[in-house]
Amino acid sequence: MSYGGDTTDTLGMGDVVSNESLANLLREERRFTPPADLAADANVTAEAYERAKADRLGFWAEQARRLTWATEPTETLDWSNPPFAKWFADGKLNVAYNCVDRHVENGLGDRVALHFEGEPGDTRSLTYAELQREVSQAAHALTELGVQTGDRVAIYLPMITEAVIAMLACARIGAPHSVVFGGFSADALATRIQDADARVIITADGGYRRGKPSALKPAVDEALTRPGTENVRSVLVVRRTGQEVAWTEGRDVWWHEIVDRQPEQHTPEAFDAEHPLFILYTSGTTGKPKGILHTTGGYLTQVSYTHHAVFDLKPESDVFWCTADVGWVTGHSYIVYGPLSNGATEVLYEGTPDTPHQGRWWEIVQKYGVTILYTAPTAIRACMKWGDDIPAKFDLSSLRVLGSVGEPINPEAWIWYRKNIGADTTPVVDTWWQTETGGIMISPLPGVTATKPGSAQVALPGIAATVVDDEANEVANGAGGYLVLTEPWPSMLRTIWGDDQRYLDTYWSRFENRYFAGDGAKKDDDGDIWLLGRVDDVMLVSGHNISTTEVESSLVSHPKVAEAAVVGATDPQTTQAICAFVILRGSAAEDEGLVEELRAHVAKQLGPIAKPKRIMPVAELPKTRSGKIMRRLLRDVAENRALGDVTTLTDSSVMELIQSKLPSAPSED
Ligand code: WT7
Repeated sequence: MSYGGDTTDTLGMGDVVSNESLANLLREERRFTPPADLAADANVTAEAYERAKADRLGFWAEQARRLTWATEPTETLDWSNPPFAKWFADGKLNVAYNCVDRHVENGLGDRVALHFEGEPGDTRSLTYAELQREVSQAAHALTELGVQTGDRVAIYLPMITEAVIAMLACARIGAPHSVVFGGFSADALATRIQDADARVIITADGGYRRGKPSALKPAVDEALTRPGTENVRSVLVVRRTGQEVAWTEGRDVWWHEIVDRQPEQHTPEAFDAEHPLFILYTSGTTGKPKGILHTTGGYLTQVSYTHHAVFDLKPESDVFWCTADVGWVTGHSYIVYGPLSNGATEVLYEGTPDTPHQGRWWEIVQKYGVTILYTAPTAIRACMKWGDDIPAKFDLSSLRVLGSVGEPINPEAWIWYRKNIGADTTPVVDTWWQTETGGIMISPLPGVTATKPGSAQVALPGIAATVVDDEANEVANGAGGYLVLTEPWPSMLRTIWGDDQRYLDTYWSRFENRYFAGDGAKKDDDGDIWLLGRVDDVMLVSGHNISTTEVESSLVSHPKVAEAAVVGATDPQTTQAICAFVILRGSAAEDEGLVEELRAHVAKQLGPIAKPKRIMPVAELPKTRSGKIMRRLLRDVAENRALGDVTTLTDSSVMELIQSKLPSAPSED
């Protein structure tokens, strides 16, 4: 295949630079066809694309039958008031029943649902029958605390079994949950409690992180001193670490005291397909967090189908492990609702990948015989940095499918993942989706797609995605633009909690009748989609639009670079100048010639226009808790400004480290 020749620069994004970079990345025409045995026995074959194309709504109606409905839906999509969708609107079901009870009724009560692995090494395997009892008891306890259908419950827990149980208990009684990531501060928690007007909070004394107990309850106590949180009646507290907690009589209740004494049977009530299931806040770059609202029937249909299709899950034999936190949408959809609705056996791990050693994840894969692993590029790059010898010490031969999510995965990391974790045989599926989309939207299928390192490639069956230019015209193959979704999908967000107008403005106003995802993307000559990062991560250099992702990807393809973050800093001559922050691989020395060597490397791969003006080797990069690089802060550094808000950083000392390296004179051309 070729990427040469003329390029249509419709947007400015699909310019020569980007195409040359793709050509370079694909120089070796690396394609990985599915392993024959996987393809022969795949859950979903190429025929699904045809079927969905011929009758998209019929296809989703068929997928809805994966679930057990109390009342079968007769209508599939009501799009009479776009963009406010109703899916399967006249159907009724209970999500917890679908994720737990029906498996027990089908004779699978003894199957392990969750292999819990605490960070200190304590373990607990919970069967579907045990999960049913615990979810039932928790549902009774919430009812005893006065939680009614429609009341919001905030969940602020570590990665322990109670997090999953609490979410399912809420779903069981029709009380929408709002899970707040346990790493967030009291401030962030308070804002989310206020916005959702939560009535009950489920938390723990603390959880284990990096070998130490890390408290959670004090943040709840502090959040509840803020105005706007007065409607919180009860705080349900799980005892996890045994650390001291302050106690507010009449408000605080120990989980074990109220849950354990409840009846073990609970009759699930069926709710409308459009009943709210959960609110999950995404921070975005500006303004107050957006409460993304997901509902019941469409959401569960799509997460169940995509989990079955994208990971090729065989519930009787697979052990699935998604390393995300339940506080992110990945945890909601691919730890809780997708896998459990499919009757999967999965791993739930509390801690960090390098506690107590850098092989912890691989030790867990070996211990439980994990067959499907779903993680994020940032984690893969951290493992690359730690060295190939670490995973090599463990038996990873059980793995048969590997997944990636959260940001563009650079081809280098993709190849490393396949080679060092997947024995150079497992398919790697790069899955593109968002909190807003609820489930996976663009991804290879492991038994069907010949994969290309770095590309999410194709919309799943039943999903309509494309790349358009400024005028909403679909771009030609080989060109870049904006990623849009052109048809409603079952697990789409229904609105922003309490703010329909903001829902319209944020997602549906840039292009008529199209959902604009905020991401830049391009189509290659085969029409496959490559994600290029958020459009606000595009730099303007001497009239050329250059994607930060592509420059980062080029830097990381140099053998001395482990990670890279690129920003555009205001520049009097070129509008923006490319500034790169790089983490070197273990053995690489930070000598005189290194910066020049890296600049030359990028110039050769992407063209002289993409050559970074400055390159700063650093020890760490500033990241949010979900692993996204905070370019805003790096831009502050690059432009010699005082730092903006650092409160959502995983580690705020990172910025001090980076700043202490300044000033380093910009290199001259
Ligand atoms: C944004 C959504 C989806 C769950 C985790 C993140 C980026 C996500 C990919 C991918 C390139 C990706 C996009 C998207 N993103 N997956 N495979 N390739 N970019 O959920 O926090 O809502 O973030 O993450 O920019 O818009 P989120």
